[in-house]
Amino acid sequence: MNNLSPFSIRLPRTIVFGAGKIADLPSFLPENFTTVLLVAGTHTLASGDTSRVRAVLEQSGLKTCLYSGVPSEPPPNAVDAIAEASRVCCVDGIVALGGGSVMDAAKAAASLVNLKGSCNDYFSGKSMIDGTKRIFLAALPTTSGTGAEMTSNAVLSDTATKVKKSLRHPSMTPELALVDPELTFACPSSVTAASGLDALVQAVESYISPRASDMTRTWSRQAVVLICGLLKRCCECPDDAEARAGMAKASMLAGMAFANCGLGAVHGLAHPVGSLLHIPHGVACAVLMMPVFRFNEPVCGGLFCELASAIKADDISSSGFLNKLQSLAESVGTPCDFKSYGLSPEHYPFIIANCRSASMKNNPRFMSDAEAEAILCALS
Ligand SMILES: [Fe+2]
Repeated sequence: MNNLSPFSIRLPRTIVFGAGKIADLPSFLPENFTTVLLVAGTHTLASGDTSRVRAVLEQSGLKTCLYSGVPSEPPPNAVDAIAEASRVCCVDGIVALGGGSVMDAAKAAASLVNLKGSCNDYFSGKSMIDGTKRIFLAALPTTSGTGAEMTSNAVLSDTATKVKKSLRHPSMTPELALVDPELTFACPSSVTAASGLDALVQAVESYISPRASDMTRTWSRQAVVLICGLLKRCCECPDDAEARAGMAKASMLAGMAFANCGLGAVHGLAHPVGSLLHIPHGVACAVLMMPVFRFNEPVCGGLFCELASAIKADDISSSGFLNKLQSLAESVGTPCDFKSYGLSPEHYPFIIANCRSASMKNNPRFMSDAEAEAILCALS
């Protein structure tokens, strides 16, 4: 029988995918625009992709202002700086070109530019976002991993308290997500590996999410198949256009899925571990992936078995799927624990106190504080 369970889907109004599609960017912007703020990541400046996108915009008659220098794991004041640049330049909208940090900071800025107060007021919960006052945002990812171009939240980090959490509002979803695989060609292998494993975790966590629908599972499953088939190739041959395109599509599909059904305990733990020990998000997810998925196996072995079948694993079983993930992570050279980052028992109380996010609550198996500590202990 067909699955007729109800679901709802929230996504960017326009999603564009394809190599070379940045050439079409102006045609997807509102016709009355005269000025846009281009928020670009540091790597994108160096690769020449920022100049390429800027030229496309200016050749269509738009005036552009450039903002760069968004730090990784952006704090609220990085959002204030982008919002202020938007006001000073009187822009009609923002084009964000970068990885998850750039897209998240720009997403928050587009929502706050016409509101009173600082980003910290909204991050702390003192003020509430009014979604009717946002400005247009186009998100163009330059890594294949975060899926931030699809989501309605911005992950920000408080530098003083080391608390990393989301500023979230349904109106924060970008109007346009333009995923051009050519923008990922300059991504270094280490970033390709870590962000690719982040995308893999997002695909699997959305597949096993209690809020998954047959619609989101179709996207998640296709993402898992693409990543298991292409991530290693992408890391070994950064110029392989087909592998880059497959990973860009996988990241996009995983983002479409988890934007609508949430993540799980890997992300619940990755945020406080990453903010406390300054570990890149993709690396934190890659390290936590195996112990958390093995913890989840008793309640979602059937779903892991479905994914084993989808990727045509040699062993069509739950453990066959998890073993395949482990060998993929090892093959792209990500660390298998947090020893080199100095994780030790003194860090456990902070991590456990700050891991109870929406992602943690969405995990298919409840994880107690003691069980979370046991996972951290095994990785220290
Ligand atoms: Fe992630």
